[in-house]
Amino acid sequence: MPCLTVSAFVFVMPEYNYGFSAPLKNAIDYLYTEWQYKPVGFVSYGMASGGLRAVQVIKQVVTTLKMMPANEAVTVFLRGALDDAGELVPDPARDSAAEVMLDEVAWLSAALASLRVPA
Ligand SMILES: Cc1cc2nc3c(=O)[nH]c(=O)nc-3n(C[C@H](O)[C@H](O)[C@H](O)COP(=O)(O)O)c2cc1C
Repeated sequence: MPCLTVSAFVFVMPEYNYGFSAPLKNAIDYLYTEWQYKPVGFVSYGMASGGLRAVQVIKQVVTTLKMMPANEAVTVFLRGALDDAGELVPDPARDSAAEVMLDEVAWLSAALASLRVPA
């Protein structure tokens, strides 16, 4: 079974019309046991909201699959985050947010380990 040996996830996801994308929903729906009792961190991006609304929506789905969403997250407001070439401008605050989110994902993964199906 794929992914059973993976102990945590980070979804990098855009926001479309206040929601998350259909391909990501399809990927989530494709698996079941593989998601259970594993944490998920979010790196979201979007023009106006940085994907914040999409993250709130996806929490209802991932918790249905017994995933534990990390509260700490990375939020990229694309308007202002891109240079003239469309490349992401480095941002120390974003780097710090990523470290905090990844730390929380690691803690949650360790805390949930005893609940997971052995790989
Ligand atoms: C149809 C459409 C709807 C969008 N809706 C939102 C939105 O609700 N909130 C937001 O922040 N950005 C929104 N955007 C901007 C996208 O998040 C942005 O273009 C992002 O780069 C798309 O990610 P992708 O290129 O990886 O698919 C929308 C873009 C499109 C084309």
